Parts: sequence; structure tokens; C-alpha cells
Amino acid sequence: MLGIETSCDDTAAAVVDGDLHVRSSVIESSMDLHRSFGGVVPELAGRAHVATIGPVVAAALDRAGLDPRHPAIDGIAVTAGPGLIGSLLVGLSAAKAFALAWDVPFVAVNHLEGHLFAPLLERPDLQWPLLTLLVSGGHSMIVLQRAPGEHEVLGETIDDAAGEAYDKIARWLGLGYPGGPEMDRLAQGGTAGALKLPVSMTGPDLDLSFSGLKTAVVRATEKHADVALADVAASFQAAVCEQLLRKVRGALERHEVAGVALAGGVAANSLLRAGVAQLAREFAIACHLPSIAMCTDNAAMIAAAGLYRLKVGGPSGLGLSARPNWQLADVP
Ligand code: KG4
Ligand code: ZN
Repeated sequence: MLGIETSCDDTAAAVVDGDLHVRSSVIESSMDLHRSFGGVVPELAGRAHVATIGPVVAAALDRAGLDPRHPAIDGIAVTAGPGLIGSLLVGLSAAKAFALAWDVPFVAVNHLEGHLFAPLLERPDLQWPLLTLLVSGGHSMIVLQRAPGEHEVLGETIDDAAGEAYDKIARWLGLGYPGGPEMDRLAQGGTAGALKLPVSMTGPDLDLSFSGLKTAVVRATEKHADVALADVAASFQAAVCEQLLRKVRGALERHEVAGVALAGGVAANSLLRAGVAQLAREFAIACHLPSIAMCTDNAAMIAAAGLYRLKVGGPSGLGLSARPNWQLADVP
């Protein structure tokens, strides 16, 4: 299966075998074009995809040992949403064109479902049901997966995504974009108790919220202008992770699962990884912390979800449009 992913700033293509073995995974990021704007500029992202989609697909096929002109593949999986419309359309149009040219089926994949398949690529023997905390720059949700492709969203953010909160606070502190990795690094040398920050959403439901915390950080740093950057990062990181881990604990108390997994860019966070591993030990269940390459956007996870969707639902029609607001609850 050839996977194609162009929902945001990364142009990605990958080849994955039927047994979920990743034969190649190529990612070309346009982040350098966006950095000085402090966020992804949709028009620039779309144009970068147009320039790179051909070479990236050719490289993925070549690295998988396939002829880029006439590859022996059984299908093409492509992200149809959610994401930026101008970016999605590039990958989707390319996938349709390749499917026609090579006479293979193509199947539309939901980007979030792709993230949910990522842990499987590194642990094909994974046991179900699985509780997954999916935290990225655009989404934050707690998902119960009874089996591959059978998911229920138990809770999600009512305002900012966790990664978005990291990026906004990093920007407020004058750090680069995206700010998550730098904040995480700084936090490791800071004191979490330095700023008194609220932990939001302490009720029993499993929804998340980060906008109150964001405002609290801004207020606290205005009031204590002399506080060290590392201490702000550590205090913020502790509050974000405490909220996320409380909700994962709440979900584990209510649902009996065989394992817990992290997915999405924020899954790279050191404190969050340690906290989820600790919860897994406490509940005596398996812990799936994908490698950083599998946490962030890639096309191998799209190919993996596509293998499943093609098997259960058959190919998508060539008339299919991009779905920029495609919810996980509306899959397939
Ligand atoms: O999944 P992803 O690569 O892209 C999408 O948003 O779909 O996630 C990117 C997000 C950014 O907001 C980035 O700041 C955040 O993940 N991030 C982190 C870390 N590494 C990346 N946030 C906290 N700690 C990290 N170590
Ligand atoms: Zn993503």
C-alpha cells in the first residue's frame, strides 16, 4: 500500500506491506517557510506540496525497491481530512491520478484514524481494547479502540489542542515555532512549582481544555516578570501533563483495556511519556509509546489505516472530495 499524507505542512509518502511492515517512509517538511510567521501559512503549505508531492512519492517507491514509473502496489491510501483544504487537495488529486495511471484502487483515510494506527506499525502484536491519548497541534482527544478501526471518542478538547497551547505559550515567551520541543527541553531544567497555575477540567468528564491555563501563564509571567524561562516552561508542562494524565486515569478507571497508547506530536513530550508509562504500570496493562517518527505526521500510518479501510469498506470513488473538517466520529 502506498500512503500519501498532505494535510498540513508535511508532504509524506510511504510504502507499507500487508503485514504492516514499513518498507519506506519519506517526509518533506515545509516548516522552514512558516517559522517566521509563527504558524503554518495555508497558501505556502499548499504550494510546497505541489512542488514536492511528485519527488516524495517517487522516493518512497524507490526506497521500497519498487519501480517509481510502474510500481507493483495493490492500492493507494490518502488523507482526505481533517486538515487544510489547499493542502489536502494536492495529496488527494495526486492519489487519484496515480490510481488511474497505475490501475489500482485508492482509499480515503481520516488523518486522526491514521494516528490511531501508528502504534500498530511498531507493535503488530498489540492487544485490544486500547486506550489512546491523541495529542497534536490540531487535536486532543481520548479514544477507546475496541479493535483496529473501531473507535469511540471518550473526551476531547473544548478549546485549544495541547500542542497549540504549547506553541502559543512558546510564542508568548519569544521561543521559536513549533514551540513544544523547546518548551519540553527547557522544562527539564526548571522547577515546576515556580508558578502557581491552575489544573483545568478537574471534573469527572473526560473533556480537555487548555485556554484557561494559557491565560493563567500570561497573567503569572506578567506579574512575576523576573521568573526564569525554564521555570515557566516546567510549571506549564506540569499543568498540561497533570490534566492529560488525570483524564487518562479517569478513562482507565472506567474502561477495562489491554493497553494504553500515545499518538500525535505531543506524544514526544518527555513528562507525558513518563506519566503514561507510570499509569500503565499502576493498572498493569501494556504501554505503547511510539517512536517520535511515528508520533508526528507521516504517511506510513495513513497506509496502515488504508489497508484496513480498503479491506472493510472497499475503494473510494474518484469523485470523492477533501473533507477539511472530517470528524473521527464520522469515519468511515
Ligand atoms: O502531530 P503533529 O506533528 O502535527 C499535527 O498537529 O498534526 O504535532 C505537532 C505538535 C506541535 O504543536 C508541537 O509543538 C507539538 O506537537 N510537540 C510537542 C513536543 N514535540 C512536538 N509538544 C510538547 N512536547 C514535545 N516534546
Ligand atoms: Zn497529525
